[in-house]
Amino acid sequence: MKYQRTFNFSAGPAMMPEAVLEEIRDEMMNYRGSGMCVMEMSHRSQVFAKILSDAEADLRRLMSIPDNYRVLFVQGGGTLQFAMVPMNLMSTGKACYVETGAWSKKAIAEAKKYGEVVMGASSADRNFSYIPKHVEVPEDCDYVYICENETIHGTTWHQLPDTRGRVLVADQSSMFLSRPCNVSDYGLIWAGVQKNVGPAGMAVVIVREDLLERTVDDKVPTYLRYAVHAEHDSTYNTPNCWAIYCCGKVFRYLLENGGLEAMARRNEAKAKVLYDFLDSSRLFHGAVVPEDRSVMNVPFVTGSAELDAQVIAAAKAAGFDNLKGHKSVGGLRASIYNAMPQEGVEALVDFLRKFEESHS
Ligand SMILES: Cc1ncc(COP(=O)(O)O)c(C=O)c1O
Repeated sequence: MKYQRTFNFSAGPAMMPEAVLEEIRDEMMNYRGSGMCVMEMSHRSQVFAKILSDAEADLRRLMSIPDNYRVLFVQGGGTLQFAMVPMNLMSTGKACYVETGAWSKKAIAEAKKYGEVVMGASSADRNFSYIPKHVEVPEDCDYVYICENETIHGTTWHQLPDTRGRVLVADQSSMFLSRPCNVSDYGLIWAGVQKNVGPAGMAVVIVREDLLERTVDDKVPTYLRYAVHAEHDSTYNTPNCWAIYCCGKVFRYLLENGGLEAMARRNEAKAKVLYDFLDSSRLFHGAVVPEDRSVMNVPFVTGSAELDAQVIAAAKAAGFDNLKGHKSVGGLRASIYNAMPQEGVEALVDFLRKFEESHS
């Protein structure tokens, strides 16, 4: 391997395409004749304005984002969105949430600070190992909220819920740009970018324009209003210029490499290699029902915490990093985002198979 890099199965921050990292390296000291690094550049400069507008234009092309949606780059990562969503969209004070795992639970806890949360459905009864097939949506709720891919529990909504005409809000953090997405199905999509796109500390928010007109409490801080970010084209204050630049590179890379259809095909093929192995293994077992399995985050266990720890240590020594499951659920987890090559998953399966053979 050219750079002696490990296969990094981290849930985020996570691998980025090597070609993108190389381009960033090449532009580090002098960005395209500007005489400076993007990190050193004024966010009001013409050079940066183009980086920002190109990033937005490329994301719009990639996702075919309709004209009546705004694209915002907001600091504060994913967690801030747990609060910004209810602060901006809970205008009558009631919202419907679906509880599918750790990240929707965090969103629910935050929303409860701002209004009434109606639980439309929950998969807590079977340890969040599935996606509920029916959501009870109250007619008078301001929106229906889902976490479209639960990073820790490894489930995905392969089909969106029927919201009975209410606005759908989705946390796409750990599946953003992993497959085609029909933006018009949503009122608001947000994604922390450090999994499938770029450096941590920023979220992309795609919001339907009419939702920016909802009444927001006077006490909501200026920075936490989507309308303010929209009015100032994501430069109300100094934005996370570096993250925007890196994300823009990834948007362009995806466009030049077949777009989201191609990503979906590659991701499905990659995940199949791992799931097929888990389904045939006597030692390792996946925890999620087959029809709701995530294509991005694959949690699995041996059934023995001691053996799990042995696998993780042996894997690390063999060049496979960050396979430890989240501390709240234990076991192992392989996060296989867009930038994880197929050969990384094949090599991991090869390693797990050999481990199994030597422990049976
Ligand atoms: C699905 C999901 N939502 C939200 C978050 C929180 O993101 P952040 O750490 O940027 O606040 C994460 C983080 O890993 C996540 O996986």
